[in-house]
Order: sequence, then C-alpha cells, then structure tokens
Amino acid sequence: MINVIGLGYIGLPTALMMASHGVEVVGTDYNKELVATLNAGKTTFKEKGLDELFDAAVKAGIRFTTEYQVTDTYIVSVPTPYDKFSKKVDACYVVAAVKDVMKVCPKGATVVIESTVSPGTIDKYVRPVIEANGFKIGEDLNLVHAPERIIPGNMVYELLHNNRTIGADDRAIGEKVKEYYASFCQGEIVVTDIRTAEMTKVVENTFRAVNIAFANELAKICRHDNMDVYEIIRICNMHPRVNILQPGPGVGGHCISVDPWFLVGDYPSLAKLIDQSMRINDGMPDFVLNRIYEIMKEKGMTDITRVGLYGLTYKENVDDMRESPTLQLLESQERHLATGLKVYDPFIEKDVVANQYHNLDEFLAAVDFVVIMVKHNEIKENMDKLAGKVILDCHNICQLPGVYHI
Ligand SMILES: NC(=O)c1ccc[n+]([C@@H]2O[C@H](COP(=O)([O-])OP(=O)(O)OC[C@H]3O[C@@H](n4cnc5c(N)ncnc54)[C@H](O)[C@@H]3O)[C@@H](O)[C@H]2O)c1
Repeated sequence: MINVIGLGYIGLPTALMMASHGVEVVGTDYNKELVATLNAGKTTFKEKGLDELFDAAVKAGIRFTTEYQVTDTYIVSVPTPYDKFSKKVDACYVVAAVKDVMKVCPKGATVVIESTVSPGTIDKYVRPVIEANGFKIGEDLNLVHAPERIIPGNMVYELLHNNRTIGADDRAIGEKVKEYYASFCQGEIVVTDIRTAEMTKVVENTFRAVNIAFANELAKICRHDNMDVYEIIRICNMHPRVNILQPGPGVGGHCISVDPWFLVGDYPSLAKLIDQSMRINDGMPDFVLNRIYEIMKEKGMTDITRVGLYGLTYKENVDDMRESPTLQLLESQERHLATGLKVYDPFIEKDVVANQYHNLDEFLAAVDFVVIMVKHNEIKENMDKLAGKVILDCHNICQLPGVYHI
C-alpha cells in the first residue's frame, strides 16, 4: 500500500492516478478541511479530467485521512518554497513530513520524496532526520527521489504520458518504485541516482525560466525603441535553429518562478545568468504597471479605478493563483501607495483581492481600460466585448484596432 503525504496540486492527482490503476492508496494531508472535502466526494481544485479520475479512484477504494499510515511505501508531495532572502530551498515541509513518517513507518519501508528539491537537499536535510530516528538507510529504510513534471491545465494527460525520472541509492529499489509509476505512466521512466534526479528537475524549470526571460528582455528592448517584438520573434523563429518564446506579464506558479532560485541560492557566484533571468521575469509585473501608467498618460486618463486587470491566476484556464503576475502587480500598486485597480478572473470564485468582480460583463461595465494579464479561453471567446475600450494585451491575443502591448 502507498501512503501519499500531501494532497495538493501534485499529491492528489498522483494518488488518484495510482489508485485508479490498481495500486492500494491512502492519501494523507494535515489540512482537515481539505481531507473533509475529499471525503465528501469533491475535488479541491479545478483541473481537466480530475473529477473523472477522482470518481475512478474512489471506486477503486482510495481513502483520505489526516493520519499517517503504517505501510511499506510513502510518497511525500509537500511544498518546497524558497527562502526569499537566501534564495535557497526551504525544506521545512519536507523535513516535517519525513519526521512524521518516521513515527509510524516500519523497518524496510521506502520513502519517496516527490517534492522538487535542490541538488543535495536530500543528503543535507532528509538523511539526517532518518538516521536520527535510528534507521540505517539502505538497510532499514530506502530513500528515493521521484520529481514530478506535470503542468497545471493538462495534468491528467501529462501524468499518463510524460517521461519521468527516479533517483535512488540502490538501483533495485529504484526499479521497484518505477513499477508503481509504470502502473499508469506510459512515458519512459529513467532510473538514476538521487542527486542527478534532484538536479535534473531544477534544471528543467531553470531552462524554461531563462528562455522566458530572454523573450521578456526582447520585449523591453523593443518597447524602448518602438519595435514590434511579436513580428520580430515570428520572423526569427523562421530560422531553422531559433525558437524564441513569447513575452508575457511575468511568471507565477510554484515551479518556474521558484525552483531556479534554488540554484542561485546554492551557487551565487556561478548562477549569474539564472539570477538575471529570474530578476527579469520577476520585474515584468512592475513593467506592466509602468505600461499602464504610460498608456493612461497618453490617453489623458487619470482615474485608476476605471482600469481593470483581466485574470488573477498564474496561467490560463486553471484556478491556481500562487505567485501570479497579477498578484505581484497588485502588490506593486500597494507599494506605490496606490489603490483602485479592478480585477476579475472567471476561475476565482472567492473574494481574494480588493475591487474584485465575479462576472465578465459587470467587470467590463466598470472599466474603460482592460489589461489582459491571463489568456483564459473566456476572454479569447469574448474579445468583441472589449471593443471601444483601451486595451493593454500582455499576450498578443487581441486583434482589435489600437491595442497596446507590453
Ligand atoms: N504545482 C505544480 O505545478 C508542480 C509541478 C511539479 C512539481 N511540483 C512540486 O510538487 C511539490 C508539491 O507542490 P503542490 O503544488 O502539490 O503543493 P500544494 O501546496 O498544492 O500541496 C501540498 C499539500 O501538502 C500538505 N502538507 C504540507 N505539509 C504536510 C505534512 N507535513 N503532512 C501532511 N500534509 C502536508 C498541504 O496541506 C497541502 O495540501 C512541491 O515541491 C512543488 O514544487 C509542483
């Protein structure tokens, strides 16, 4: 039986996927409300195909609890934020979860860390906890790292089809854990050592962050001298060996805006390109705020309360708003001692920020200037409703005349 610890964006779909493919699974989360919601038969976030997967897993017998289970395999999928000062990984959630696993796990168990961690984290923080509890790693207990690659918005498909990496001290243990993942994963599963697995996951997200930063930097250069960055990227990408990404209003979520910092924190004198890239991406919400100011000036607008941000989530068609560019922009507004920007997102039902609307038409009626922060399908399908408004399109999705870009 597998006990999945942490039933968030990653742990829940993983637990459901394994359970619906014949593995006996118990999901544990210390958030009582979350466990109660799952036990009431409801999923805790919106994701394509998740409800169907949930039903299949419940039929197959998955259980949800706040208690850690006595079993032979644990998968730990708890948050790994970064320390805002040192930029290093903050492993406190992983350490706390492993400590609690140690209280119940029998000898011979395997502990799989699925959370993303920087290279060396398992050596530095996890092994000592296990050894302090009297377990000899490799004899009484096996340690594995199985980082996750799925993208919110397409999680169920990617769980089934992505290639995976498993890092283990002992290849035979790695192969055994691979079998659990192979119960549902149709991609290739590579078995390697733990530090390589830690590093590959962080490097993958760093690759993406650096490439996004390059597109964002081009947008800034082109804005400075009034060149069309989208046309330039389109033409450059006709070169057979060039593939530039699109610029945007910033990067959010718990992966690309977080994991590359781990390398900056651990290797400050070496990770210069990564450091700059993260600063460029983190600077984009401020850049958008400045664009709003410039455009208002150009249009003779003075009332900030007539300006609205479309989208609160960190990417399109999901309800995850962690570290989102819109939240960063609103924080920046506050730091400039300003208030008044209106906000709307079809995926966010609860009131989470000031001046938030819950209906597209009401939101549009309240503003003259719309900033497209997120390219949800809803806005793409209702672009005609923006006619007559001042528009700052941060994603180049609006074909209406007179649109402004970042
Ligand atoms: N969200 C993504 O898109 C994504 C993609 C790939 C990898 N990851 C990585 O996966 C890991 C988990 O991320 P997430 O997005 O699922 O986080 P999350 O915040 O959505 O979920 C974590 C869950 O763990 C629970 N939890 C925390 N400590 C616990 C403990 N000691 N015992 C029991 N439950 C505990 C929390 O209550 C929460 O429900 C992170 O390392 C993240 O970097 C995330």
